[in-house]
Amino acid sequence: MRILLLSHAFNSLTQRLYVELAASGHELSVELDINDSVTMEAVELFRPHLILAPYLRRAIPEAIWRSHLCLIVHPGSVGDRGPSALDWAIMQGKSEWGVTVLQAEAEMDAGPVWASETFPMRTAKKSSLYRNEVTEAAVRAILAATDRWPDYRAGSWSPRAVPMQPMHGRLSQAERTIDWTRDDTERVMRKLNAADGFPGVADMLLGQPCHLFNARPFDARGEPGALLGRVGDGVVRATADGAVWIGHAQCPGGIKLPASMVLAGFANLPALAEDDGTFRYEEQGPVGILHFDAYNGALGTAECVRLLEAYRAALARPTRVIVLAGGGDFFCNGLDLNRIEAAGSPADESLRNIEAMDDLCRAIIETDDRLTVSALQGNAGAGGAFLALAADVVWARDGVVLNPHYKNMGNLFGSEYWTYLLPRRVGPEAARAIMERRLPLGVAEAGKLGFIDGHFGASGAHFLAEAVARARELAEAADYASRLATKRRVRATDEAAKPLAAYRAEELKAMQRNFYGFDPSYHVARHHFVAKTPHSWTPRHLARHRELGWQLPVD
Ligand code: COA
Repeated sequence: MRILLLSHAFNSLTQRLYVELAASGHELSVELDINDSVTMEAVELFRPHLILAPYLRRAIPEAIWRSHLCLIVHPGSVGDRGPSALDWAIMQGKSEWGVTVLQAEAEMDAGPVWASETFPMRTAKKSSLYRNEVTEAAVRAILAATDRWPDYRAGSWSPRAVPMQPMHGRLSQAERTIDWTRDDTERVMRKLNAADGFPGVADMLLGQPCHLFNARPFDARGEPGALLGRVGDGVVRATADGAVWIGHAQCPGGIKLPASMVLAGFANLPALAEDDGTFRYEEQGPVGILHFDAYNGALGTAECVRLLEAYRAALARPTRVIVLAGGGDFFCNGLDLNRIEAAGSPADESLRNIEAMDDLCRAIIETDDRLTVSALQGNAGAGGAFLALAADVVWARDGVVLNPHYKNMGNLFGSEYWTYLLPRRVGPEAARAIMERRLPLGVAEAGKLGFIDGHFGASGAHFLAEAVARARELAEAADYASRLATKRRVRATDEAAKPLAAYRAEELKAMQRNFYGFDPSYHVARHHFVAKTPHSWTPRHLARHRELGWQLPVD
């Protein structure tokens, strides 16, 4: 089938569907939902059999759904209608939720159902549920729907009309408001989780109006509503029966940042603990497991330094394999662009951040007394994808999407020793293609290319358990010593051919041009990325129907 993905943004769900549908042999193009006449032009150019809308913020124009089959991915159970579907489900404490694939019709979310899937709800941030359970259910439902298309076309199958519930409205800030004196921790967490990612909960901290993000329960008690102190970069606030830790905040007109950077007076709060739980190390027999669960997978300068310290501490332990486990939602997305944007000199901070990231990568590449494994429970992008390649072995959860390229961020050249790590894994041709195409890579394709060594596990928890078991097999294998010897030999040969320092110097020279040179593209792109400036056009590498030489398809 020729499928046009019509989406508000090329977000994680849209990327995952892109990867899955391409792997199923469909011909794909993408148009971002910006303007009705542009969408209609895209439809005329691409002549899709199906228009698929994984993530829309408004209705599809009537002229389009009347003349083309349009399927909408609704992040709600069958019958649920309206915006903020997942937010409502979390607020209402649903134990099961779902994804429904509906055909677009005049009434919003009321068209006939092509497919639906359900999943048990987990106590988690909305963004985490979206990236995991919702995405997996949406993939299953969309693949089921596309399988039904030939029968639909032949007239032997039709989607079913189902009784619809009354449409709920957008969850307002008034409905999200926390009553700090009355709400218990469970209720406060529900409100914060239901708003995580976007839009956050409007509140006040230290007298400053701000939206709150990235919260978890914290073991403390105090006067309900009082700020009890700070832990890491976040603040601890008492609820009616306990406390919560709040990691990030956004002031009106500002960007989302660690609470420590947003709140004047943060440093005067008493420190309740140093460790905010972002970095965690555990051991299972001969395997050391290093978790780094940075918010949104972004590793700022300080996080890179702390992770390097944690890595060195892990090296001091008598293990045989170290598993770099990243976080549950993301392995890593590279430099922390928000912190960079907020810095006095974004160029200087970019350089500090990349140097710290490179130090971390080098320590992993140069580890010669044990084996290292990157275990990607969640997606990885830009420098985060190359951080993974610094390890000897790379495994990913089934369904992980990789974006191992930098150019989408204002033609950034990239560092993390990618000029060494990528060609040695996939060869120079494929390395060039990955970097130029700037498209998401699914695990099946990544496996075929040699970018990763394997993929398995339906959920993050299953994947990690299996990854640790496999790491243990590596540690206990009869050929462990010879594998280690080969690793040392290959590294020494590579170093003799071209030292790591030379790769780093070349990459950083190009990065310095990105940061300090005449062309401001990186700074402009980063600003739009962190400010979430709405798209005003669809990037050409996604909109195939706008490629030069595009021929009108004939069926
Ligand atoms: N720094 C700061 N925040 C980042 C980030 C980074 N490097 N990468 C992602 N985020 C944030 C996004 O702003 C978004 O924030 P939100 O919670 O306020 O919505 C959240 O993480 C999820 O990112 P999003 O872009 O919605 O995820 P996605 O799955 O749709 O796309 C990427 C994934 C990796 C393609 C995309 O996030 C990206 O391009 N990130 C930047 C990578 C980069 O250029 N890093 C710097 C060079 S090393």
